[in-house]
Amino acid sequence: MSETAYLNGEFLPLEYAKVSVLDRGFIFGDGVYEVIPVYSRRPFRLPEHLARLQHSFDAIRLENPLAEAEWTRLIHELIGRHTVEDQSVYLQVTRGVARRDHAFPKESTPTVFMMSGPLATPSNELLENGVPCITGEDFRWLKCDVKSISLLGNCLLRQSAADAGAVEVVLFRDGYLTEASASNVFVIRDGRLLAPPKNHLILPGITYDVVLELAAACAIPIELREVSEQEVRSADEIWVTSSTKEVLAVTTLDGKTVGSGRPGEIFKVVHREYQQYKRKVMRQAA
Ligand code: PDD
Repeated sequence: MSETAYLNGEFLPLEYAKVSVLDRGFIFGDGVYEVIPVYSRRPFRLPEHLARLQHSFDAIRLENPLAEAEWTRLIHELIGRHTVEDQSVYLQVTRGVARRDHAFPKESTPTVFMMSGPLATPSNELLENGVPCITGEDFRWLKCDVKSISLLGNCLLRQSAADAGAVEVVLFRDGYLTEASASNVFVIRDGRLLAPPKNHLILPGITYDVVLELAAACAIPIELREVSEQEVRSADEIWVTSSTKEVLAVTTLDGKTVGSGRPGEIFKVVHREYQQYKRKVMRQAA
């Protein structure tokens, strides 16, 4: 079955969805996006994703073209047009079509695009063995809290991981942990969960919030503070989190074993809680 997309007011087969080459998304990467996981046809933490989208709109001075209720309706309709139960909804809004000029056009209509595909969460093999990661210097811009479609820095970094046969690249800026190319990063040291606080250097991950809530509920001590490169390199556990990876244990960093070399005990607790929480939320939404 052909995938269905939404473009500027209509649903259509993905291969028929076309935009102008003058779209500022194409010319400048001038737009914002969201990736929303869908479990059993129910979008996970949708109000939080839409709140972050609003934050991105505000940051790039683009008016949100749709009210929250309209986003919610369209996302549910898009999900309903796909047969698979667990999906990943991608939405992006650009500043629209205009003659090429860096400054914003006086008048333009935002381009609103959405698509959905099967949600690919980590395999059991990756969950049971953990994954290799490398490290890199975070050379991206200073507005990493904006979920911008300008992802060249993230793409270059992610490719450096792919080239090394790694799943992610854990990033440091000025000697401190920020995040990874498409995930947030958590560290366990001496039974404490450490993570960088939300600021302009990291994306405020929706999964990051869920992980912190679950850890707090499990009485795992949490420290949100700057985490040094040395603390990461000598951590007992390292995790990467995102809407598609959920919570995933990192078992080698730059080829060196992390902790025992197996997914850690605290990872197992939080991963189990995450799966239970997902199911509970989905039941409540039913
Ligand atoms: N990426 N940091 C970065 C740079 C990201 O791109 C992402 C997500 C995250 C985690 O955010 P969340 O938990 O809300 O998914 C952190 C998405 C999945 C992507 O670009 O495909």
